[in-house]
Amino acid sequence: MRLRLLTAVLALAAMVMAGPLAAKPIIIKFSHVVAENTPKGQMANKFKELVDQRLAGKVEVEVYPNSQLFGDNKVLEAMLLGDVQMAAPSLSKFKRYTKKLQLFDLPFLFKDMTAVERFQKSPAGQQLLDSVNRKGLVGLGYLHNGMKQLSASRPLRVPADAKNLKFRIMSSDVLAAQFEAVGGVPLKKPFSEVFTLLQTKAIDGQENTWSNIYSKKFYEVQPYITESNHGLLDYMVVTSREFWMGLPDDVRAEVKKALDEAIAFGNQVAAEKAVADKQKIIDSGRSEVIELTPAERAQWVAVMKPVWKKFEGQIGRDLIDAAYNANK
Ligand code: SIN
Repeated sequence: MRLRLLTAVLALAAMVMAGPLAAKPIIIKFSHVVAENTPKGQMANKFKELVDQRLAGKVEVEVYPNSQLFGDNKVLEAMLLGDVQMAAPSLSKFKRYTKKLQLFDLPFLFKDMTAVERFQKSPAGQQLLDSVNRKGLVGLGYLHNGMKQLSASRPLRVPADAKNLKFRIMSSDVLAAQFEAVGGVPLKKPFSEVFTLLQTKAIDGQENTWSNIYSKKFYEVQPYITESNHGLLDYMVVTSREFWMGLPDDVRAEVKKALDEAIAFGNQVAAEKAVADKQKIIDSGRSEVIELTPAERAQWVAVMKPVWKKFEGQIGRDLIDAAYNANK
């Protein structure tokens, strides 16, 4: 009895000496699949830096790059289970959550990143952030990577050159239809497997941005890259409704502010890397970068654009028109 009393007194004394019970910080695990020297990698690190500065002791961000924690196919499920709090999957990877975002995969929809930015900022673009809401997710903002290029084991100048080649694609039916339109064989595979699939020649080609082709060294195992700018690779930063609404109001507002600033920074990195990483690939001499003539490009547009019609019912004609009109 005396021993128990003594233990209780000692425990109380230890608590008093340690001061008031320190509240544990809220942890935000941010999972992504790309390298750190990419627009998304840099954005996530900037977000962590800003939160560390402004919410020290209250919120901690842990960034997990390179599919260390989850690949894109699992991350949204994990988010709904509370195993990860933030991610920024490519807009092509939301098929199970909304069909509307397939819009961004339509080939030759946007002529450049200025048009993409204009559309994403428009009321229609902002409303699309809410398209994931019904499934328990919250769309916090868009992040750019850039326009996609085609890489392959042989030169691709016209659509016929792609015939019978196996192309790795993200998990998107629009992208599958796009490669079927040129007679290619699309294979849905996780980003983490692309380098090995190319290196072992299990696939013949893939589509991606300059920064992903450079940072994941795809150019070392793909002798040809066609500067096609045929599609978009952008992201949506998401969290779960349960986590987001569970944050105290002032903390949520501060986290959102830090995220918006980090996204603006990431977008700037994206614009710079689209130029710099292309140049690094050219300078490496490992891969030939093919520029299309206007007539060659017109052939890709003519063959791929009919894919729009196939997905019009799922996406909505009004949305396609709104996005297309952002080119003007
Ligand atoms: C990413 O940029 O997050 C990955 C893109 C891909 O899967 O090709």
